[in-house]
Amino acid sequence: MKSIVFASGKGGVGKSSVSLNLGLLLAKNGKKVVIIDADVAMANLGLMMNVERIPITLNDVLSGENEVQDAVYEGPFGLRYVPSALSTEKLSKADYHRLKKAVLALEKEYDYVFIDAAPGWMEDAKAAMDAAQEAYVLLTPEPPALADGLKVKNYLERKGVKIHGAIANMVLNDPAEIKKQDMEALLGIKIAAMLPEDRNVRRASALQKPVALLAPHTPFMLSLGKLAEQLSGAKIVLPETNVKKGFIRSILDSFRNLFRKKQ
Ligand SMILES: Nc1ncnc2c1ncn2[C@@H]1O[C@H](COP(=O)(O)OP(=O)(O)OP(=O)(O)O)[C@@H](O)[C@H]1O
Ligand SMILES: [Mg+2]
Repeated sequence: MKSIVFASGKGGVGKSSVSLNLGLLLAKNGKKVVIIDADVAMANLGLMMNVERIPITLNDVLSGENEVQDAVYEGPFGLRYVPSALSTEKLSKADYHRLKKAVLALEKEYDYVFIDAAPGWMEDAKAAMDAAQEAYVLLTPEPPALADGLKVKNYLERKGVKIHGAIANMVLNDPAEIKKQDMEALLGIKIAAMLPEDRNVRRASALQKPVALLAPHTPFMLSLGKLAEQLSGAKIVLPETNVKKGFIRSILDSFRNLFRKKQ
């Protein structure tokens, strides 16, 4: 049982992509995993999985109307997830302290409770960090992401959250990028993974399908597999490539859906 927050100072560095696809890999390999979309104002998880109707969400849990167990849904490979609502209607009633209670309840049932945080350190982001036992700090190998990552790392340390390390994402291996050793020296923590820039991740986002399903053997997924092994201490097998449900089929499906919606 472990609750892990995926935190970052700067937005858009890959918290949602990493937590969702890492969760899917662990679930595919027999772990009980639940992922909470704690970026309540933005609610990306439902969109990333193309879920259309969500009756009860984390927003209902934070407003005290429902227990967290009422907002748990089943995703691919048996991964469970707690989405946030697409509408911000109930946000004014949200009491972010309820997130900790929800995480504690889920910790009893799951091997891993992943918390996909909002970026920065406003109330919602802090609540996500305060709710977890452990953390990964997400960043890209550039000065602004690193500087903001350092602030988040310091916040987590002050709160006594155990930091697994930083995850550098969208790595191009360009000479202008900050090197791994320099990032470690600056942050004072290990880099747990260097995940490559991989256009398949963006293509998967555009198609609202996790890359772990669409293109499970791409460079991003191979590196994520190593991170999953490091975290779980077990051998991780990547999902099979499903040619029929690969990119071409998904592009056709999404056009068909668009066409249907327009009619
Ligand atoms: N390794 C990668 N290679 C290429 N694109 C990536 C990679 N990781 C993430 N992306 C893309 O970058 C964008 C931002 O990623 P994501 O939504 O996961 O970041 P985030 O940190 O959760 O953002 P936010 O702070 O807004 O919640 C998405 O379009 C995603 O597809
Ligand atoms: Mg996100």
